[in-house]
Amino acid sequence: MGVNFPAIIVNFKAYESALGEGAALLARLHDTVARETGASLGVAVSSLDLTNTASNFTIPVFAQHVDPVEYGARTGQIPPAAVKQLGAFGTLLNHAERRLSLEVLGKTIEICRSVGLFTLVCAESPEKVQEILAFKPDAIAYEPPELIGGNVSVSQAQPEVIARVVAIAGATPLLVGAGVKTEQDVRVSLQLGARGVLLASGVTLAPYPEDVLRQLVKGTIS
Ligand code: G3P
Repeated sequence: MGVNFPAIIVNFKAYESALGEGAALLARLHDTVARETGASLGVAVSSLDLTNTASNFTIPVFAQHVDPVEYGARTGQIPPAAVKQLGAFGTLLNHAERRLSLEVLGKTIEICRSVGLFTLVCAESPEKVQEILAFKPDAIAYEPPELIGGNVSVSQAQPEVIARVVAIAGATPLLVGAGVKTEQDVRVSLQLGARGVLLASGVTLAPYPEDVLRQLVKGTIS
């Protein structure tokens, strides 16, 4: 799984520009930019859009959340097996906007592992990174909640924390996110040892998302 793990993952959240038809268009754009530049890109889409995206493109598609359930009488819940069946590569878990208790998180990771769904688990602090490692997720994304959606990036505000969480994560790939918008944000994050970045508004709210994506990709080239 590590082989296909993307260096830039864009979380579409529930932005109007990135739902429904918008999600399909934006995912296609990521797919095109990945193919043309050779960069490793991924997208995290609403479960509403998994059928629109997950098996239509070659880039890895992540669900934004799944529940710790099997198929069955589970009204309104999202079984990891169904997400896998729709063609998703993996799922985000424990995002700041969708926090889980450690108990639920552990159970969800276990079910994802059993169906072959890659888990990218968000953590808001070095302590949380440490705690989450115990569940052996496939990757962790460090995102300080106070910087999410803002214009100051995690790599500008917290370079020393990035270095720390990279060291804590050890062999588990670590992404960083919050406020990431520029080529420089990506470059600095990678220089500090992160395997990639997780971002949202920098692309989903940009007037010209393609230009932003192509700039971000430049940050992956040393
Ligand atoms: O999941 C990515 C995210 O929470 C960061 O959002 O808008 O700061 O890039 P944003």
